[in-house]
Amino acid sequence: MDMQHSAATPSVIHRADYRPPAWRVPELALDFDLDPAATRVRATLSVERGGAHGEPLRLDGEGLTPLAVRVDGVAVNDWWMEGERLVVPLAGDAHRVETEVEIAPDRNTQLMGLYASGGNLCTQCEAEGFRRITFFPDRPDVLTVYRVRMTADARRFPVLLSNGDPVGQGELPDGRHWAEWHDPFPKPSYLFALVAGDLAVNRGTFTTRSGRVVQLGIWVRAADLPKTDHALHALKLSMAWDERVYGREYDLDVFNIVAVDDFNFGAMENKGLNIFNSRYILADPDTATDYDYDAIAAVVAHEYFHNWSGNRITCRDWFQLSLKEGFTVYRDQGFSADQGSPAVKRIEDVRGLRASQFPEDSGPLAHPVRPEAYLEISNFYTATIYNKGAELIRMMATILGPQSFRAATDLYFDRFDGTAATCEDFVACMEEAGGIDLSQFRLWYSQAGTPRVSASLEHQAGGGRATLRLAQHVPPTPGQPVKQSMVLPLRLRLFGAQTGQPLTDEQLVLLDQPSKTIVFETVAERPVLSINRGFSAPVVVESDRSPADLAFLSAHDDDPFARYEAMQQLMLDTLVAGALGDAADHQGVVDAVARTLDGPDLDWAFLAEAVLIPSENFVGDQLAVVDPQGIHTAREALRQALGTALADRWRALYDQTGQGAYTYSPEAKGKRRLRGVALGYIAASGAPDAADLAFRQFEAADNMTDRQSALSTLVNLGGPACQAALDRFYTRYAGNALVLDKWFQTQALSSRDDTGAVVAALARHPDFTLANPNRARALIGAFGVNQRAFNAADGSGYRFLADQLIALDRLNPQTAAKLLPPLGRWRRFDAARADLMRAELQRIVAVPGLSRDLYEQASKSLE
Ligand code: PHE
Ligand code: ZN
Repeated sequence: MDMQHSAATPSVIHRADYRPPAWRVPELALDFDLDPAATRVRATLSVERGGAHGEPLRLDGEGLTPLAVRVDGVAVNDWWMEGERLVVPLAGDAHRVETEVEIAPDRNTQLMGLYASGGNLCTQCEAEGFRRITFFPDRPDVLTVYRVRMTADARRFPVLLSNGDPVGQGELPDGRHWAEWHDPFPKPSYLFALVAGDLAVNRGTFTTRSGRVVQLGIWVRAADLPKTDHALHALKLSMAWDERVYGREYDLDVFNIVAVDDFNFGAMENKGLNIFNSRYILADPDTATDYDYDAIAAVVAHEYFHNWSGNRITCRDWFQLSLKEGFTVYRDQGFSADQGSPAVKRIEDVRGLRASQFPEDSGPLAHPVRPEAYLEISNFYTATIYNKGAELIRMMATILGPQSFRAATDLYFDRFDGTAATCEDFVACMEEAGGIDLSQFRLWYSQAGTPRVSASLEHQAGGGRATLRLAQHVPPTPGQPVKQSMVLPLRLRLFGAQTGQPLTDEQLVLLDQPSKTIVFETVAERPVLSINRGFSAPVVVESDRSPADLAFLSAHDDDPFARYEAMQQLMLDTLVAGALGDAADHQGVVDAVARTLDGPDLDWAFLAEAVLIPSENFVGDQLAVVDPQGIHTAREALRQALGTALADRWRALYDQTGQGAYTYSPEAKGKRRLRGVALGYIAASGAPDAADLAFRQFEAADNMTDRQSALSTLVNLGGPACQAALDRFYTRYAGNALVLDKWFQTQALSSRDDTGAVVAALARHPDFTLANPNRARALIGAFGVNQRAFNAADGSGYRFLADQLIALDRLNPQTAAKLLPPLGRWRRFDAARADLMRAELQRIVAVPGLSRDLYEQASKSLE
């Protein structure tokens, strides 16, 4: 680590250092005198000594000055500060400790703690934001019953919400009013929330299976009220699903959701008062794509499911973060799969894993699902903790089978309800209910890196035996040079190359050794291997299957994911060969895509996924040295070949998927998706009327999905139609921040040559601001994943990103740190690019007063 880093080189927190809290806080009363410029916070903590020790009470704080400290009602002055912590010596085993502080929500640009958004006040406390509100043991294993009183100006802040149930409210003489809330469930401080604002509500009710009538409310600014029905509907579906699938009921009389425009993440599961980034609540057909609708339902479900996996059972310490996040992602994936096509949902999730988690696992920021150390916990809200964590749960569910898995989750919820638990506790429940030993499986929690599996199949001609040889290898990752063999559950099946019929049942092979040989006796015809069906293990499979076998599987496999996967592999092999400069043979892919399009009874959405070629980034991940331009050229060439060779089919599909007035159904969504893909191929073919066709679609669209897909196509084509569409889009949606984000993002993702310059100009656009995380992500984040544009040979993309991150770090370190990873990929590029990237990382690390967040990411990326 670079020791030159300014005054305070932050200290590393280790999992091994965990100690139970010295003091418990069974109860807390909070009294807020709310004002955007100066909010008074009075906190009364009932504290209890945790065991026999002589430690004083240590309370976390950040940017707080104690204005008063009282113990059992008496002002004291024997307290002191240890850095940012308030230390209060206490004589007995139980006391009442009161503190008073003043904070300024309107100057809080980090969006952690109490902050202002759109004129309202709201909180974000996970992971360590509560200490910016009041002095408190801000750690997840201190569980407390909260009583919250808020006083505020009645006209500016007519609505006052907090966790739990409302217990009182009233008017005050000076135009102010107050409300009091009480949450009977002990919770950690990161689940505290309050909202004060001028909000309208979409109300509903849900009756739990034991008859509790729950008042549901989705709170937004009045003008957005018509856009909340989808979220409310998704909430009711989620509540019913969790009862049916996991036996989990809601436990309070109210459940509120508030949408805010300025938010660092997607949403937050505060007990009884979820707070959402408005992009995951607001939807109507004119402004939200089908993708947005799906994401809203998934995030609403995710946060709701946290009520049990996260809130009723929380995490002992932040190293256990995946205990709640991995499991809850697994649960929301199951929910979404049940709403539509499970196969398409699985394909989307695997694509996401490969786009975000695999690169993380093979880069400088790789970390295990249960990390051992961190500088800044905010940097560990990663695809590894969330998405790989969900894959771990999925593997255990696969190994246990559905009945044992449900028995295991019942046991977990029952045994650990009301506690702060560990990943180990969860795995132990899986073992106990499943009657199995998961000792070796636990390596998935401690070893980083994506395992690689090689598979080769030999067959004795004439009905002889088939021999499958499997081997695994887990690559080294930072701090973990040598790895042990892991348990890889691989679903596999053999198909006959001639008949296309299955030759075996599907079987689950647990590859738990460095290698394993599986023999199939009397295999009548030459077998083709279908492996890792349903993506049963989050690994990379390297097989010796020929292009012909992959094409065969893409047509005949009975597992839809495996069919998709075979096509992807075929395309990937073609693209990698092209990027390496081999003479491009597109015919195999063209034939396979034609067969898929002509094949029977596949649904629209599946078709759209199956014929889409891998991203430039994913191709790059396969190469020893990423050649951004070579990959782009190879990929465009394949797109053009597919567009041209199958021109009639794309036209026919384009017409066939045109629809009457907008409806929202899985079938209508699938058609829109495939229509967008067909339009893309028509444009890729170079058809002279492509821009006209796209512009007509853009103009005629009665929904955002069609409008957005037309706009993306036009933005890639460039020219006058592109400019006209961008201008009309901008004018039509002026003032709608969420849609303007799409306007920025679509341009940042463009495949055109001038994208770097366009993005640099957009960063100076009057509507661009780093203060809003959605806007920053829409431009800067999207540009960072545009492989060719970002990796311009002159380093302009790197310099641009570094400039933006340095500026953003002063406002919002968390969001800045989240956008850094593209700069850390330097090992994957040629020496010239690597030098340029490292120079920018060094420039970032050298900035005086850099945040701990950005420092950790940048310094680790240099190692
Ligand atoms: N716990 C939130 C979720 O995954 C994510 C989050 C983390 C939100 C930190 C804000 C801050 O549901
Ligand atoms: Zn979550």
